[in-house]
Amino acid sequence: MSESASLNFNGKEIKLPILTGSENEKSIDISKIRSETGLITLDKGFKNTGSTTSNITYLDGEKGILRHRGYSIEELAAKSTFTEVCYLLIYGELPTKIELDNFENTIRIHTLVHEDFKIILEGYPSKAHPMGILSSLITSLTAFYPESLDPNRSKELVDLSIARILGKFPTFAAWSFKKRNGHPIIYPDNSLDYCSNFLKMMFELPSESYVQNPVITDALNKLLILHADHEQNCSTSTVRIVGSAQSSIYPSISAGINALWGPLHGGANQAVIEMLDSIIRDGNNIDKYIKKAKDKNDPFRLMGFGHRVYKNFDPRAKIIKKAADNVLEKLGVSDPVLDLAKQLEKIALEDQYFVDKKLYPNVDFYSGIIYRALGFPPEMFTVMFAFGRLPGWIAQWKEMRENKEPLGRPRQIYTGEKKRSYTDIAKR
Ligand code: CMC
Repeated sequence: MSESASLNFNGKEIKLPILTGSENEKSIDISKIRSETGLITLDKGFKNTGSTTSNITYLDGEKGILRHRGYSIEELAAKSTFTEVCYLLIYGELPTKIELDNFENTIRIHTLVHEDFKIILEGYPSKAHPMGILSSLITSLTAFYPESLDPNRSKELVDLSIARILGKFPTFAAWSFKKRNGHPIIYPDNSLDYCSNFLKMMFELPSESYVQNPVITDALNKLLILHADHEQNCSTSTVRIVGSAQSSIYPSISAGINALWGPLHGGANQAVIEMLDSIIRDGNNIDKYIKKAKDKNDPFRLMGFGHRVYKNFDPRAKIIKKAADNVLEKLGVSDPVLDLAKQLEKIALEDQYFVDKKLYPNVDFYSGIIYRALGFPPEMFTVMFAFGRLPGWIAQWKEMRENKEPLGRPRQIYTGEKKRSYTDIAKR
């Protein structure tokens, strides 16, 4: 007999089916509650609401488990490359050598962007945040590829749009950085692998050609893999909900970029480094900032700490912390911010407030330190998060379309004024 839960309301009992996921996680299917009882369910911030079923990512926040298509994040970060993880997330299986070569070659064909994008870029003030530039350039792709606007047209067209966005995203990201610095843009170099090509577009100068460094390329691959997907987080849910209106892939992903930008989500990596820098400027007074974070009347939060789902540890943070040590050592960089981050982590992990609330360092706590060592300025950190999250957004958008999911449209409880009559402006 299939499992069910029961709900009693106004003397009526209704049975609600229990759905079980492949890792034995259970949920109550509440979709019939309204038709049976007239009630809606309320869960602000969707803290305990599943919005979909998905085959892409499994996450157990209590045990600190993260797996993509069944493969652990630890194994993927240690053994895979970012393009291979892109393929895995988007198409469901690890590619064969031939499949990976074809995939990478298809992306490579699309790294160049239309010259008119340079005109759009020129229109931005030089201090424009690269996340804003990136989200609008991604939406602008619809103007250059109007056929992409119909996501129902054909599977081949969807695959082409996917290859285009994977190819052009690094170009846009690097160009938004060049724009900020007032430096000439660098065109893609298709003789290079995906990550090296991006690094060259970022760091090559007319006066100084970019010299590849395997330490930097490996670190970038690892960082991008660690951000590649994280099931139904704020930006991914945004991508799925925008896509559920049958909006095409570019505007859906552009919406995800905007959602990610916020400091409680992907914007935290920039906020962490700014916080650590300001603690150093303030005389390394860690206790002062721990006290501020615990003070209910102070809006300050310890950025890079806490997570909606992880209540034990964030497996990505463990890998990143080790990688930060490794990268800084190999590059011969010494950053006082890394020492401060470690001290802050130690103190916070022993403090009752953080222990009671299960607040642990998250993926953003150490990532900015590595990005800075690799040469990225803080305002590019969230762009790098978006770059990493791109295959996750694509895979989730594609899955939602293939499953023919309905329009996303939550309900609400209205708490405003009851019906009242309009008063003329002269009488107010
Ligand atoms: N510093 C101090 N107190 C905190 C923090 C923090 N970083 N995070 C949560 N708390 C407290 C919070 O004040 C609340 O206390 P109380 O129950 O007394 O009101 C309690 O812990 C629960 O916080 P919440 O905001 O209700 O919990 P949430 O699950 O909605 O929060 C979070 C998750 C990530 C928004 C939050 O921990 C936070 O603001 N962290 C700092 C920002 C950050 O690092 N964000 C990156 C998240 S990881 C990257 C990603 O996947 O987006």
